[in-house]
Amino acid sequence: MFRSHNFSAGPSMLPTAVLEQAQAELLDYKGTGSSIMELSHRGSEYIEVDAQATERIKTLLGLGDDFEVMFLQGGASTQFMMVPYNFIAGSNRVATYLNTGEWSRKAIKEAKLLGNVHVGFSSEEQNFIRVPKNGEFTVADDSVYLHYTSNNTIFGTQFASEPNSNGVPLVCDASSDFMSRPLDVSKYGMIYAGAQKNAGPAGVAIVIMRKDFLEKARAEGMSTILKYKTHVGTMFNTPPTYSVYIVNLVMGWILEQGGLAGIQKKNEAKAGLLYGIIDRDDFYRGTAEVESRSLMNVTFRLPNEDLEKRFVKETEALNLDGLKGHRSVGGIRASIYNAMPYEGVKALTDFMVEFRAKNG
Ligand SMILES: Cc1ncc(COP(=O)(O)O)c(C=O)c1O
Repeated sequence: MFRSHNFSAGPSMLPTAVLEQAQAELLDYKGTGSSIMELSHRGSEYIEVDAQATERIKTLLGLGDDFEVMFLQGGASTQFMMVPYNFIAGSNRVATYLNTGEWSRKAIKEAKLLGNVHVGFSSEEQNFIRVPKNGEFTVADDSVYLHYTSNNTIFGTQFASEPNSNGVPLVCDASSDFMSRPLDVSKYGMIYAGAQKNAGPAGVAIVIMRKDFLEKARAEGMSTILKYKTHVGTMFNTPPTYSVYIVNLVMGWILEQGGLAGIQKKNEAKAGLLYGIIDRDDFYRGTAEVESRSLMNVTFRLPNEDLEKRFVKETEALNLDGLKGHRSVGGIRASIYNAMPYEGVKALTDFMVEFRAKNG
């Protein structure tokens, strides 16, 4: 069977074992004679899948009964709107945002349409090559939450750990590093992620919310579907059942990898190998500041654009796919999420060594 090493930023690779199980169960899910896609979301088979996915997410992150898990539609981008709509709109409340990349900027744009926003940090003038250290950003007094993007997919930067918000609940867009490492969940009011990078296929946004944070959400005079309270503990409308089914399989696979501590070790080994080759001399140049480097999206430039084009062409011929950088950074971006095996990164770095020897 042919499987390429897919370095795409998302949708991205899924573990082969997960796809094989999905394939085996596609036509006849557990003796029902139907695919799970064809079964009612109110039936026992899907309810079991949904509950197991929730339970596995809770186990992996160490979430207690004080947290709720929701599977919503509209991607992470809908969360950019739902968060301020529920927590600051129609009031004089304020929220703090850290502007560390394209996705933070979009989240801030939506929030400003709906309420009071304090931007406590921005690296936009430096083309987002870094995230702030503690002490480098401000938090507005009485902020309902501090919103940050834990991993900046386009710019290849990542917070090494949670920003210190002085006790203000964190709301995190974790779309591109969700389930890649353990988190200190006590600091979060909410974590959300589009599943399509580390956790499953496109079509579902995973939303984790602490119950006491949810209590602060507005409930009156709001659209029903956009209220978090509508979705807690119940399926208000048809969830993206097949996406949740795959998320459940991916969560099972992560548990088999030793949970989040196990997967973190593997992710560190892959990123270490790649950055080691980049740092060997100045043929390859990492675009992010070293202290802000992402373990998920590794961005780098070559000496000129012609070489970058040739690099992408030659890697594609070797079935190393999806390496062209985002247009706002240029160069190369290797996305090495959970499902990328060490051998995939090794194949890429072997190529990089050869390419440098030929063209350096
Ligand atoms: C960090 C981050 N946030 C949000 C999004 C947008 O997610 P969606 O396409 O699910 O709306 C992306 C997509 O790449 C992302 O990388």
